[in-house]
Amino acid sequence: MSKSSLPPGPKQAFSLNADEQSFELIGNLLSEYGDIVSLPSPDGKPPQIIINHPDYIKEIFVTEHKSMQKGTGFDRVKILLGNGLIVSDGEFWQRQKRMIQPMFHKNVLQKVHTTMCECNIRLVENWKAKSEQGESINVTKDTCYLALEIILRALFSEDYDEMSYKGVNPFFVLAEHTERDLDLVVKFHSLGKYVKRCMQDRIQHERYPDDLLSMLMLTEDKITQERMTEKEVLDEVMTLIVAAHETTAATVNWIWYFLSENDQVLASVRDEINRLDSNPPSFEALQNLPYIRQVIDEALRMYPPGWLLSREAIDRVELGGYQLDAGTNIFISPYYVHRHEEFWQSPEQFDPQRFSESHAKQINRYTYFPFSMGQRRCPGEIFALIEMQVHFAYVCKHLDMKYIKDKPIILEPLINLRTQQDFYMQAQPRH
Ligand code: HEM
Repeated sequence: MSKSSLPPGPKQAFSLNADEQSFELIGNLLSEYGDIVSLPSPDGKPPQIIINHPDYIKEIFVTEHKSMQKGTGFDRVKILLGNGLIVSDGEFWQRQKRMIQPMFHKNVLQKVHTTMCECNIRLVENWKAKSEQGESINVTKDTCYLALEIILRALFSEDYDEMSYKGVNPFFVLAEHTERDLDLVVKFHSLGKYVKRCMQDRIQHERYPDDLLSMLMLTEDKITQERMTEKEVLDEVMTLIVAAHETTAATVNWIWYFLSENDQVLASVRDEINRLDSNPPSFEALQNLPYIRQVIDEALRMYPPGWLLSREAIDRVELGGYQLDAGTNIFISPYYVHRHEEFWQSPEQFDPQRFSESHAKQINRYTYFPFSMGQRRCPGEIFALIEMQVHFAYVCKHLDMKYIKDKPIILEPLINLRTQQDFYMQAQPRH
């Protein structure tokens, strides 16, 4: 039976975005009106719909995905990323996805895993040196550089050092400049020249090292046999850099916070890594780290970096018995769904045990989606999981990390869900 009216909601208009005001408002609206809410748009567009129930989530991401495209909010991301995979839609997205998918195959990840190990070995040396000097560690910043270095080396391999000046890569500006303002847009666009220079050099010398950039440059679409243009490669490179580093770094930062507050969890992590034959763990040994994986899953439940996802209906669709017009924007917040009391027991409690093999079976798959779901699910999921497993296995083996509690941890819900202040720790080498 179809209802004629819109879902319940307030009368006052508001334009939802990935910002603090929207974060608070969505939480309040869900508490007041339930799992499907309509919110008037100030711009004369159809009302925005917020959903928070697994049945509706399945409809949007799976059943009705053909009637959906990326929603509002991505327009702003487009200014940064051109028409890269994360923002494109339709046939162009399908073609790009076909061409990019092989970059996430096991054999490629295996090579990137080596890079991840090398970067973490250098990081631990650096943190040990800081501890000897009595310096505290800015975990937020350092893990952001780490995640950046990993994706940059995966993309540019031997050209990474070539691009850098005195050990500083020009892309590090993305970790230094944390404001998401116009200044960043200008700086971001100016980084394109390094990618273009690198591509031109490779073409000129017919030099294609075994890395992600070469894959992007050389791959041919199976259907059209065409390669990507220079601009298309550039957009995908910039997309990968942005998509890969801030999300992973934000999660690593949250995990350090949880480990420092939960001695028992840290002890279980150490038990697990003590059983490893080699550390950094070999690619094959990653499957012997199920507990670290549970910790990652639980941190992603509580603080999913992409806390607000949106889709725009391109056709008229029915959702929960309501008719939604084409052009309606639908908002889904993994942050709130992951804490829905009907589906999660003690949702505010950090408990990696809920992702143990026996417990995880009971989780409704449409109530947990830090990497989104359906066709637009994150292709970098395994890349990120490997990166985090290597990091925690190696650092926890070599260092004791103590949280310096100078300021309370405050959430900053912008494009990614981060901590408002940088998170500092004191490292102590383990013997
Ligand atoms: C903890 C780490 C990560 C999280 C939580 C995360 C989360 C997400 C989410 C939620 C989306 C989908 C957005 C939507 O449905 O609108 C997405 C898309 C994407 N992610 Fe990730 N991501 C992570 C790491 C990575 C890494 C390491 C890479 C690449 C190496 C990557 C590359 C991408 C790309 C290219 C897309 C666009 C896919 C498409 O639209 O077809 N991500 N990610």
